Amino acid sequence: MAEQILILDFGSQYTQLIARRVRELNVYCEIHPFNNPPELTDDIKGVIFSGSPCSVRQEDAPDVDIDMYCGKVPVLGVCYGAQLMAQKSGGNVLPSEIREYGRAKLSKVDQHNELMKEISIDSQVWMSHGDTISELPDAYDVIASTSSVRVAAFKKKDEQTYGIQFHPEVTHSLEGKRVLRNFVVHICGCAQDWTPDIFVEATIASLKEQLGDDKVVMGLSGGVDSSVAATLIHHAIGKNLHCIFVDNGLLRKHEFEDVLHSYKDMGLNVKGVDAKDKFYDALKGLTDPEDKRKAIGRVFIEVFDDEAHKIQNVKWLGQGTIYPDVIESVSVKGPSATIKSHHNVGGLPDFMKLKVVEPLNTLFKDEVRLVGKTLEIDQNILGRHPFPGPGLGIRILGDITPQKVHILQQVDHIFINGLKKAGLYDEVWQAGAILLPIQSVGVMGDERTYEQVVSLRAVTSVDGMTADWCHLPYDFLADVSNEIINTVKGVNRVVYDISSKPPATIEWE
Ligand code: XMP
Repeated sequence: MAEQILILDFGSQYTQLIARRVRELNVYCEIHPFNNPPELTDDIKGVIFSGSPCSVRQEDAPDVDIDMYCGKVPVLGVCYGAQLMAQKSGGNVLPSEIREYGRAKLSKVDQHNELMKEISIDSQVWMSHGDTISELPDAYDVIASTSSVRVAAFKKKDEQTYGIQFHPEVTHSLEGKRVLRNFVVHICGCAQDWTPDIFVEATIASLKEQLGDDKVVMGLSGGVDSSVAATLIHHAIGKNLHCIFVDNGLLRKHEFEDVLHSYKDMGLNVKGVDAKDKFYDALKGLTDPEDKRKAIGRVFIEVFDDEAHKIQNVKWLGQGTIYPDVIESVSVKGPSATIKSHHNVGGLPDFMKLKVVEPLNTLFKDEVRLVGKTLEIDQNILGRHPFPGPGLGIRILGDITPQKVHILQQVDHIFINGLKKAGLYDEVWQAGAILLPIQSVGVMGDERTYEQVVSLRAVTSVDGMTADWCHLPYDFLADVSNEIINTVKGVNRVVYDISSKPPATIEWE
């Protein structure tokens, strides 16, 4: 098995960021919750204890038996992780006199120490803690300090056990990457050979072994994750992968034909299913956003189940699940009893009873894109903005009719094409248009009009959790607005959404 770093999660908002930084060093790592710590195996070359929103002084503070790892492999405690190690080894952790959040500068650095090698005195680090390590046991050395935090980093004398009070994983710690490199590469000795090429090679080989001559059915959405997952499975089992791409009548203009074409070009065994009318029928008269979402989800399952039944002897369901969807979120209040949905499969459609194959379930989104590049997937698919499963169904406020879909598709097409032509598409994280359930007065020629209003929405974001509205150039917005009003019948007013998330959301419904 390939070497890896184990990250034990104590609930910090930055835990996934630690994992991403380690992987940027081409070293594989996994996040596991503190309350279910894995046994040490030969492939684990080092362990990182994450931060936590809790205090080690709390009675029910998240805890782990540090002797499972310390002294056996190199261990790095970050913030709470460092305080936990210090306290459990006989040190003292007290509330800071001033709570320390934000930038600080290292004032003393032991550059002979391997963790601190090449870290400059004065290096800016990011602090976020309410407690501080006031005392370390004799067996420990301080290896870095700031003017207000004496124990900013420590090492146990005869062991590869380290703690740092700052967060090396956030970009505000300017040399944080170097600290992590020192730990992962120099102290743990990881080979940095976990690359997209190696991932592709190893994944295809293990899919071949796992699937043999079995058939797999998979729904494609045109999005990055399902496309990359399908391509990997296709490389492993060829025509035994049966893909289904459903036209729910809520896709973008020409999306169904274009994406189907790309999939066929890629050699995928894919069937396009026109189910527009089924979706429109189910949506008739529905105006509540959640009712619309549920109806779209239900019809999708019916259509997919019907299609899956047409394939003989299918054993597997392929899915484009990625790592953030599967990382068990940590309950800092202790282990939680999670009832797994597959313990109760009685009422599920047949395809959901299939065994699941998820070749991307260890990857973050940006890593999926890199794998997609290695697989030479069309940039048209890899660079695509995220698009919600319910599609235009949640961008038409109020009830949905084919006529409204037609109007919105034209508006959306002008906007997205405009972004592409102006070279702005890749600067935007997600963009689209919303058809509002109101009409406004306008004048065209000598005629008074009373027509629909559309809103344009474009945001920048990293992961969709927070987002800022895009400051698109006025001239660009003016051109797009003109083209929409001049060419899309039924629309006489265009507005631009200037709300950020939070407090707004990206979608309007
Ligand atoms: P919000 O509107 O919550 O959206 O800020 C965040 C991201 O999630 C997408 N989104 C959805 N995706 N089914 C999906 O597959 C949905 O029901 C759904 N609702 C929102 C949204 O497009 C954005 O990328």
